[in-house]
Amino acid sequence: MVTMIISCLLFLAITYSPLLSASKTNHLTLIAGSSLSATKPDLDVLTSPNNIFSAGFHPVGENTYCFAIWFTEPPHIRSRSRTIVWMANREKPVNGRSSKLTLLKTGNLVLSDASQISTTVWETTTFSHSLSQLHLEETGNMVLRNSDGDVLWRSFDSPTDTLLPEQPLTRFGKLVSSRSQTNFSSGFYKFVFDSSNALRLIYDSFQFSSVYWPSPWLQSTGTAPSSKGPIAMLDSLGNFNSSNGFLISSSDYGVKIQRMLRIDSDGNLRLYSRKNRGEKWAVTWQAFTDPCQIHGLCGANSLCRYSPDSGRECSCLPGHKIRNPTDWSNGCEPQFTLSCSKKEEYSFVKISNTDFYGYDYGLFPNYTLQACMDLCLDLCDCMGFQYSYRQWGDPRIFECYPKTILRNGIQEPKFFGDMFLKVPKIHLLSFVNSNDGFGLDCSNNTITTLAITTYTKSHANVFVKSMLWFACGVGILEVIFVICVRCLLFRAKQNSDEDTRTRALAATGFKRFSFDELKMATRGFAEEIGRGAGGVVYKGNLSDFGIAAIKRLSETYQGEAEFLAEVNVIGRVNHMNLIRMWGYCSEGMHRLLVYEYLEHGSLKANLSTKVLDWKRRYEIALGTARGLAYLHEECLEWVLHCDVKPENILLGSDYQPKVADFGLSKLLNRGGLGKARFSKIRGTRGYMAPEWVTNQSITSKVDVFSYGIVVLEMLSGRSPCVNEEDNGIVDTQSRALLAWVREKVNESDGNNVESCVGKIMESWIEGEYDKEKMGVLLGVSLKCVEEDKDQRPTMSQVVEMLQGH
Ligand SMILES: *[C@@H]1O[C@H](CO)[C@@H](O)[C@H](O)[C@H]1NC(C)=O
Ligand SMILES: *[C@@H]1O[C@H](CO)[C@@H](O)[C@H](O)[C@H]1NC(C)=O
Ligand SMILES: *[C@@H]1O[C@H](CO)[C@@H](O)[C@H](O)[C@H]1NC(C)=O
Ligand SMILES: *[C@@H]1O[C@H](CO)[C@@H](O)[C@H](O)[C@H]1NC(C)=O
Repeated sequence: MVTMIISCLLFLAITYSPLLSASKTNHLTLIAGSSLSATKPDLDVLTSPNNIFSAGFHPVGENTYCFAIWFTEPPHIRSRSRTIVWMANREKPVNGRSSKLTLLKTGNLVLSDASQISTTVWETTTFSHSLSQLHLEETGNMVLRNSDGDVLWRSFDSPTDTLLPEQPLTRFGKLVSSRSQTNFSSGFYKFVFDSSNALRLIYDSFQFSSVYWPSPWLQSTGTAPSSKGPIAMLDSLGNFNSSNGFLISSSDYGVKIQRMLRIDSDGNLRLYSRKNRGEKWAVTWQAFTDPCQIHGLCGANSLCRYSPDSGRECSCLPGHKIRNPTDWSNGCEPQFTLSCSKKEEYSFVKISNTDFYGYDYGLFPNYTLQACMDLCLDLCDCMGFQYSYRQWGDPRIFECYPKTILRNGIQEPKFFGDMFLKVPKIHLLSFVNSNDGFGLDCSNNTITTLAITTYTKSHANVFVKSMLWFACGVGILEVIFVICVRCLLFRAKQNSDEDTRTRALAATGFKRFSFDELKMATRGFAEEIGRGAGGVVYKGNLSDFGIAAIKRLSETYQGEAEFLAEVNVIGRVNHMNLIRMWGYCSEGMHRLLVYEYLEHGSLKANLSTKVLDWKRRYEIALGTARGLAYLHEECLEWVLHCDVKPENILLGSDYQPKVADFGLSKLLNRGGLGKARFSKIRGTRGYMAPEWVTNQSITSKVDVFSYGIVVLEMLSGRSPCVNEEDNGIVDTQSRALLAWVREKVNESDGNNVESCVGKIMESWIEGEYDKEKMGVLLGVSLKCVEEDKDQRPTMSQVVEMLQGH
């Protein structure tokens, strides 16, 4: 009897101890007939036995709650910053006062909001004869079982926007993004198996729907290998593997840590991981590095531009105004009407380097600009047209794409096509002048982004060949092109096994490497091949790419997000005279950049050898100018190289030059907040423009100056860095070389530089040369090193002058 009373008391004590101690009610089980209440959302939670996951009422607004599952965080983390992995009622939040989740004795799990009249907001519609139980399992799966242990319902079968390890994604489940970071109701982006059983990212608003990943021009083969239909799953080591062979590997693959795959409200699919609760999540894979490639972000009649600071920037097309200033996805509306009647009342506004994906009236190849305009004027619902050319094939063929709807607009410098927007003539001037946030604010060497069409040949810079991105922008489904991309990007061994991986790589543009991977590739950073301001460069061998130059940054004050933003911009730059970045690594304190490896090393290493005859020197000068011109014309804020010197000009197999280390000046020195971007003197003694010391504004002309010095060095064989001990502030070293060159020029008759070429050109350098050509080169380099920066030509002018010969 006594024992019975004691055990009875013990039982009561155990059962009610949480209430007595007023600590968390850490339910492990919700049994039939009981409920969780929203009244004390922090206390009434269901936890998994390992305490990694919790389920309960999560506040989503002023006294409104959703029933959710989240990663358990330490007590000091505010509930609003939890990581939610599942939600029962994302569309219909409930009132905080009287709502509860009840497991009825009938076996139905019901979320009810008593503040309204008899409302069931959500239910599992399950039924059981015996008493059922609800558990939150260690995987984060909330499971309802009957007394026999049969599963009646699992939260894993109805995912919201997140997939946890071991949670299958099937034809019947789909991930749907949240509306925004703070609004959990369903947004526009979906990650699904489509009808051909291939995984897709789809933009799906009320009126419009389009697939944006894998890139429409890289369609994957969707086949169903099993009768059960397709299935994909994330494992706890970091692989997301689909039954039709699609594979995503996280950059920290191999460790068992907390992970999740989520389609974020910005439409990007990301793999996240973290070691412990309370820590921040790290992105270990993402489908897009350039958010503008994601459809629908800026809405209709708008342009998306990549911005290193905020990721993307939306702006309305000229003559349009934003529909909802708080939400770009609603796009912009025209402030004029297009009517069909008088076509002579319409004209076009040209928006350079702009792509609008989809909604073509048709494709009209080999159209002249005038013919394309006439075509669009004749079509009532033509809102404008895209005029672009294919980069491959000879002769170049221009293509005309009249558009009936303007969505998915991207403006990016490397896209070789322009958009011509149809507008009433009477409004034309006002659009151009009002400058609806359109003019790009770049220092004085800008390309004009908005101009009234002048029918001049708009592709003067023929040299700029950015094949890959051009064509991907045009969005043409060309099998030839797909093959082309593959050999370009992944020229190393490609077999069909790697196909899926390739697809993932192509989608991201370039790769994130793990530190261990790079350490292995460089055999523990054994072979040093260069050393510069930013860090040491090592040679490495990567299985996916081949031989690479891996730069380990020594000093960086940047946070990871900034680093990634910056690296993404550099990674997208693609020009034959600029070194190609294949990827990067950002892990803990480690920051590494992975570049293509060029066999002949730097110009510096080759300057005093006989391999570089006059012909090659000229080609190197021209190629380098092209690379720099491309950087400057890109019109992005980091385009100034700021450290042009022979060490940073690398030579490829044919001794064609590739400029290296661009973008680094910003990567290394930004130091957090500073708006004063050039507070610190950059560059290398001997090649530095006078502006650095005279406190003038720093423009692209500093690169022009350095370029001029490099060319003089190539011509004269004299290094501007003779006096190693010079510690003066003024860069006297370049002065010595300059003084010598100018003296030689003056000795010859007047301004005729050609006649003095012989005196300056180093005599041991071999090869025939064209005196006139060399004269031009000398003349150009002298212009480049003018003290007054306004007297110096721009890099594109340099290219034009050199190209003429
Ligand atoms: C969340 O977004 C939905 C859909 O746009 C909207 O109806 C709802 O009012 C939003 N909720 C909040 C709290 O802003
Ligand atoms: C991917 O899944 C398939 C079966 O679905 C399996 O055979 C294969 O080994 C998995 N691959 C990896 C890397 O996990
Ligand atoms: C393009 O048009 C021109 C003139 O109309 C014609 O001579 C040329 O052959 C065409 N090119 C192609 C590839 O169709
Ligand atoms: C561009 O140059 C003009 C004068 O040539 C000057 O007034 C203006 O401030 C410059 N703009 C920038 C962004 O440097």
